[in-house]
Amino acid sequence: MSAPAVVSVRDLASHVGEVVRVRGWLTNRRKSGGLQFLQVRDGSGTVQAVAKKDSLDAALFEALSGLGQESSLIVDGEVAADPRSPGGVELKLTGGQVIGTATDFPISNKEHSSGFLMEHRHLWLRSSKQAATLRVRARIIKSIRDYFDSRGYICFDAPMFTPAACEGTSTLFEVDYFGEPAYLTQSGQLYGEAGAMALGKIYTFGPTFRAEKSKTRKHLTEFWMIEPEIAFATLDDVMDVAEEFIETIVQDVLADCEPELTVLERDLDKLRAIKRPFKRETYDESVARMEAAGHAFKHGDDFGAPDEEFITHGSDKPVLVHRWPADIKAFYMKRDPADDTRALAVDVIAPEGYGEIIGGSERADDLAFLEEQIAAHKLPKESFEWYLDLRRYGSVPHGGFGLGLERTVAWICGTKHIRECIPFPRMLYKIYP
Ligand code: 4AD
Ligand code: MG
Repeated sequence: MSAPAVVSVRDLASHVGEVVRVRGWLTNRRKSGGLQFLQVRDGSGTVQAVAKKDSLDAALFEALSGLGQESSLIVDGEVAADPRSPGGVELKLTGGQVIGTATDFPISNKEHSSGFLMEHRHLWLRSSKQAATLRVRARIIKSIRDYFDSRGYICFDAPMFTPAACEGTSTLFEVDYFGEPAYLTQSGQLYGEAGAMALGKIYTFGPTFRAEKSKTRKHLTEFWMIEPEIAFATLDDVMDVAEEFIETIVQDVLADCEPELTVLERDLDKLRAIKRPFKRETYDESVARMEAAGHAFKHGDDFGAPDEEFITHGSDKPVLVHRWPADIKAFYMKRDPADDTRALAVDVIAPEGYGEIIGGSERADDLAFLEEQIAAHKLPKESFEWYLDLRRYGSVPHGGFGLGLERTVAWICGTKHIRECIPFPRMLYKIYP
């Protein structure tokens, strides 16, 4: 007799009445007389498999009864409709095989400290909420790629080793590059600008690195960033793309990841509300709102977490804050022609306290101005000669933004700490496992 077809737990509901094979791991087990109820997880979901002593091979029944949490196994059984179980089905076991035993799995179903869970990240990933988060992350990545690929953007990979800073010199990771100092990239943007001049519109998507010396729930030292860069785009164009992009990602995840969002106990109505238009206001308007409400803030400062929370308070949707004080923003940003002290920059602040998810701007396109800025920021001009060439040879207005992937995952999943939004987070003093 041939073996039953392997079916994913997620697809079991369309196989009611058939005998199928499920391959996975035991998450929990309960005995009651001649019955064993095994919770079997295969990565796509968890199903209850019911082993009945008098209808199963005695040696198999015995082997199953001694299995510890996270033992791996293959089970064959008939799919039966069961409205009480989460997937609407259960398996009535007809056979099976133990593959790998496990005893004393470190992560039991009781509470563990976050330090303990982080030390066991390689095993913690098997927990239902962690797995659900990473599934949503994968769906977000697909949505990001689909968004740009279907709109004529060219995927353009920026280098990881770079000769100079993009986002300030205080968070650079220095590496020894054949005896010379080099830095892990903080952002693919400057290279993306070269790409936009060659290809019209591009997006970079890769890991970026920042030696963030503070411990917060929003900062990683290695995070993934998606950075579109568009020739001839103005700040308004950049904001339009950012809004449509965010709406698309959230609605894609809602359409495809309801089971995961349910595991994560996410309030789906909060996500359904993420539809354009989003509120846009200038930095000065944001600050005026803070002042009017008696929210303590020093005009000219960057926003901290409480300020970001104030900005989106009472709003279900992200808020776009634009035209920032130029002296707290990056060297490459264009100034507002209407007010030279303001940079044509935009930050997108996510609701519910998730903070800044996008930073973007229109870029300085004038060679002399950019040379001044490089000097004013005390950056080594020789490392930027190639970048200045982009203004020497057919400079055009252009702009783009960077979306932090993990912060976006945290917001969409409703996960308080960004460390759960990447398989193996890298943070201050944390590099194991
Ligand atoms: O605002 P940032 O620093 O902007 C740039 O890097 C620009 N070069 C992007 C561009 O215009 N092409 O970073 C962009 C986003 C932030 O809004 C945030 O979501 C995320 O990257 N980010 C971080 N995410 C996790 N950990 C960190 N340490 C992060 N720093 C920035
Ligand atoms: Mg920023």
